[in-house]
Amino acid sequence: MNERIRNFLRDRREDGPCLVVDLEVVRENYTNFAKALPDTRVFYAVKANPAPEVLSLLASLGSCFDTASIPEIEMALAAGATPDRISFGNTIKKERDVARAYALGIRLFAVDCKEEVDKIARSAPGSRVFCRILSDCVGAEWPLSRKFGCEPAMAVDVLEHALRQGLEPYGVSFHVGSQQRNQHAWDRALAQAAAVFKECGERGINLSMVNLGGGFPTKYLKNVPSVKTYGNAIFKALRKHFGNRIPETIIEPGRGMVGNAGVIEAEVVLVSKKSE
Ligand SMILES: Cc1ncc(COP(=O)(O)O)c(C=O)c1O
Repeated sequence: MNERIRNFLRDRREDGPCLVVDLEVVRENYTNFAKALPDTRVFYAVKANPAPEVLSLLASLGSCFDTASIPEIEMALAAGATPDRISFGNTIKKERDVARAYALGIRLFAVDCKEEVDKIARSAPGSRVFCRILSDCVGAEWPLSRKFGCEPAMAVDVLEHALRQGLEPYGVSFHVGSQQRNQHAWDRALAQAAAVFKECGERGINLSMVNLGGGFPTKYLKNVPSVKTYGNAIFKALRKHFGNRIPETIIEPGRGMVGNAGVIEAEVVLVSKKSE
């Protein structure tokens, strides 16, 4: 908790629980991400904190937005983001939501199976799609393994299917697990992403983008490596697996953008025992 938050909580008059977020910390986090990965666009994961003040600040700083629902898309638009700065990153979407997102101008969608591709081809024709691949999430405090994403070999078929359906196969995404304490986790995932790029290339599909996902840790009680450490490790891994043909990259920080910016103050009224 920083000095400004401590003062705010000391001076506030209202009773009851309170969540206070220091926008200056969010600003600093955004700047650190932008500096640590200067050639990478930041798509803030709106689910981490969709407060209008957070979204407006990030929009004014130039951030793009990773959204997982229509209300999140609407909030990002209301905060000042144009549709070309918003992705619909949830791999399992209702078809009516895909259509609504398309009507709102969204043209970048995540997929991880052919059936999702078919939905997007029908309701968001011509859009860009990126295919999420599975990650083992080793080293993460909140692994998201097997929740979303397909095997890399299947991703190639999914992206080829997208091309056949009139979509633009745009790239590959992964999520190395939330609160990822090992900066080298991206190395394994990038090796797999590069293999998908290669296999797609052999089928005449030239992918453009790697979505490096979220996972950047925030400091709760224990120290975590700096964003710069993660940036350096990721850049090295990109060089190692893509040589001098590094693709366009994006990151989707959630926790790492807002986790250390807020505090919840609550009061323990009673710890009641139910037996002696
Ligand atoms: C697709 C996607 N991107 C980004 C995030 C944000 O992850 P983190 O909070 O670990 O940065 C999540 C979290 O679930 C996610 O599912």
